[in-house]
Amino acid sequence: MSRAHNFSAGPAVLPVSVISQLAAALPNFQNTGLGLMEISHRSVAFDRVHRSAEERLRRVMGIPDDYKVLFLQGGASLQFLMTAMNLIGPGESADFVLTGTWSQKALKEAQRVAAGRAVWDGESTRFDRLPTHIEVDPKAAYLAYTTNNTIYGTQFQTHPETGNVPLVADMSSDICSRVVDVAAHGLIYAGAQKNLGPSGVTAIILSPWAMAKSPGGLSSMLDYKLQVDKRGLFNTPNTFGIYALERVLAWIEDMGGMGPMTERNEAKAAALYAEIDRTDFWTGHAVEENRSKMNITFRTPTAELDAKFLAEAEAAHLMGLKGHRSVGGLRASIYNACEPESARALVDFMRTFETSYG
Ligand SMILES: Cc1ncc(COP(=O)(O)O)c(C=O)c1O
Repeated sequence: MSRAHNFSAGPAVLPVSVISQLAAALPNFQNTGLGLMEISHRSVAFDRVHRSAEERLRRVMGIPDDYKVLFLQGGASLQFLMTAMNLIGPGESADFVLTGTWSQKALKEAQRVAAGRAVWDGESTRFDRLPTHIEVDPKAAYLAYTTNNTIYGTQFQTHPETGNVPLVADMSSDICSRVVDVAAHGLIYAGAQKNLGPSGVTAIILSPWAMAKSPGGLSSMLDYKLQVDKRGLFNTPNTFGIYALERVLAWIEDMGGMGPMTERNEAKAAALYAEIDRTDFWTGHAVEENRSKMNITFRTPTAELDAKFLAEAEAAHLMGLKGHRSVGGLRASIYNACEPESARALVDFMRTFETSYG
């Protein structure tokens, strides 16, 4: 089977070796005679998978021992609400850095159940940059930020400095793509469908602060304390998704972990940005110093040429390059599993396109 070059923003490309392992596990999981999706989430076989997924995530990210890890459903979007319900105490308010659609949604969901305010808003420049300074309320329950903006193509290179105010991070589109200081965060969440596996699983990493802050007694499914007590097995988890995530993490470890993965991702991004900067034909959306290494947003001189680019790219098996509807233009998502060969194929295609139409 020949596979296209996949630049989808998510769900996104998975390592071929993982897909083969998933395919083999569907009819007969580890010689049990039962398919992966047909065994109990409380079986010994699945328990092994579940524990291994957690151990691997801990190793890959360097998660401190006193932090908890959950794999829940509901996507990052449910975490917009759960973080606020669990972590903003009575009379408190949380601060939000608005770097695009996802942080806007996070603030909106938080405001349904608690107080939240924007401390910085990048909308006036179409979210093409990140703040150089954030004025955090020292009394804020936490500061929420999106490490990588999937739609506009910006990415924090380091976490914001907040003094004693805990940090809550949405890492949906760059988790496990580079080294991160987990211990600097009060809580991290990420939908798996970009860097960790299929949709339907969300990784949540909770510090002792988050565990102490969660009041308990909330609606069961929305209660971090209860979910941690039940090890994420209060109800039936996404067993297939957790196995896929475990296999993706095994692949990351086989690749050498975060050091080599960071280098691999930086090299792919550098090649694409070099091509964008090589001539005036291309315009990048994000300002240079805030460019994402995961989602490269750019455009040709006209909307008509963007459309032609997409049609010709698809004919050449370069898929998923349409920019998000709120930005337009083009977007190449080059998550962990995007092979360097795919980035090279895109650079070559851009070169040819520019020669033909520039
Ligand atoms: C940064 C970020 N946060 C949140 C979301 C929403 O994730 P979900 O669809 O898992 O709720 C996305 C989806 O693309 C995202 O990129």
